[in-house]
Amino acid sequence: MWPFRNRRRFPTKLGTPLCAFSKHDKFTLGDATEGILVQGASGAGKSSGSGKMLAHSYLSAGFGGLVLCAKMGEYKLFESYCRAAGRLKDLRRFAPSQPLRFNFLDYELNRKGLGAGLTDNIVHLFCEVMQIAERQSGQGGREDEGYWRRANRQLIRNAVDLLIMAKGRISVPDLYRLVISAPTSLEQVGSDSWQQSSLCCKCLDEADSRPKTPQQQHDFEIVTDFFCLEWPALSEKTRSVVQSTFTSMIDVIHRGVLAELFCGQTNITPEAIEEGTILVVDLPVKEFAEVGQFAQVLWKSAFQRSIERRNLAKNGRPVFLWADEAQYFITAYDMQFQTTCRAARVATVYLTQNVSNVYAALGGGDQGKAQADSLFGNLNTKIFHANSCPVTNEWAATLIGRSRQFLTNASSNHQPENGSNNFWGLQSAPNTSAGVSEHIDFEVQPRQFTTLRRGGPPRCEVDGIVFQGGRRFRQTGKTWLPVTFRQ
Ligand SMILES: Nc1ncnc2c1ncn2[C@@H]1O[C@H](COP(=O)(O)OP(=O)(O)OP(=O)(O)O)[C@@H](O)[C@H]1O
Ligand SMILES: [Mg+2]
Repeated sequence: MWPFRNRRRFPTKLGTPLCAFSKHDKFTLGDATEGILVQGASGAGKSSGSGKMLAHSYLSAGFGGLVLCAKMGEYKLFESYCRAAGRLKDLRRFAPSQPLRFNFLDYELNRKGLGAGLTDNIVHLFCEVMQIAERQSGQGGREDEGYWRRANRQLIRNAVDLLIMAKGRISVPDLYRLVISAPTSLEQVGSDSWQQSSLCCKCLDEADSRPKTPQQQHDFEIVTDFFCLEWPALSEKTRSVVQSTFTSMIDVIHRGVLAELFCGQTNITPEAIEEGTILVVDLPVKEFAEVGQFAQVLWKSAFQRSIERRNLAKNGRPVFLWADEAQYFITAYDMQFQTTCRAARVATVYLTQNVSNVYAALGGGDQGKAQADSLFGNLNTKIFHANSCPVTNEWAATLIGRSRQFLTNASSNHQPENGSNNFWGLQSAPNTSAGVSEHIDFEVQPRQFTTLRRGGPPRCEVDGIVFQGGRRFRQTGKTWLPVTFRQ
């Protein structure tokens, strides 16, 4: 139906229609790159209704894509979408049983245009994964979280910098050994036994002996001060919390499935997605638990950083980032990333049951809520399916907004019969009144989200209410539009 069946062709103009919400209301590439949030209760028809329509239109338009998996069966689902869109040959599966591997540290070290961003990018990747680790251990969302996050970031930054200065390369086992061999007291820094056995000390010596530019010399002094003065001077408790947060995260990456997938060779990189590959990270969270979540967040973060650097003049193929059950994969960086998506031609699609899931995923509390609200604000199109979550329904109704509503009323009553009328067999005339009252109320009432159709036989139709900030749909003349999706 759409003109991009040939995989070498893809839309470049933001106004190109990809699909339609009504006869008069097209959904364009520009709309897609402003992001979509799909919400609805379990079984409301997110995946089989709006999700299926969006996936099909993106695949048919030749998009590359990264698909994060929460549930088993997501790969098979995308396989069927790709088959229907004629894109099977672009589909790749990243899973332990498959040959694809991605050494994320090598990729950062060897990527084109290597520059000052190297340490930043590696620190960013670890910090994103660490957010998930903190969430798992229930540490996220604490009031003093900012301090611990900064302390962890400082440790990772110094360890990465030191390894690169000393060895010119970086690996997960070396990072681990360096951190656990850092001195724990000022006395230890001067002791022979620490100096002879510690990888940290060896790296400091090696980095010291290498020729350096003035900038590198300056960075080296900061690293030396950190490991020889600041780190050993931390209180035992603080140091052990920071260290164990880091080692528990690195420990998971450093063994088993993740070591095999992310710490060996590399035969696929995020750039493949820009070339049109649809990469499904098939380590569903429901099966692989924390390991699956780490793998997907690693891929998501590497993809986000890579796509932000892309050169659209060379290759402007649109790509999508797909996350069903997105609450498992959302991290604080997502809202920042979302602000650059339009320029980088990235269409984000996040499907989740309700807003509370995302608040909780981002640590809850005021900060988690603020981060989630900012992300929601940056996903410009929202599709609401049936939901019984009062928080989400109220949230959706508030988002759509209030306007002047008119209530009609009518009443009619008979006066008590009076004696003479009764005598003549006449009835008194009824008192009738009718009117229209005006008041400000929700355009879509929260309860209306509870009554949307959820699909399934016999009609296989899913109702949704589509909202788009800054758009007036031609069909309704409003910022929202009721849409029926075929399953
Ligand atoms: N192709 C289809 N044809 C008819 N009915 C379907 C089809 N796919 C799913 N259904 C039914 O439609 C309903 C909605 O399913 P769907 O999986 O889309 O919900 P969902 O919102 O994605 O739920 P969850 O949050 O649990 O993933 C379910 O009752 C499901 O059994
Ligand atoms: Mg679903």
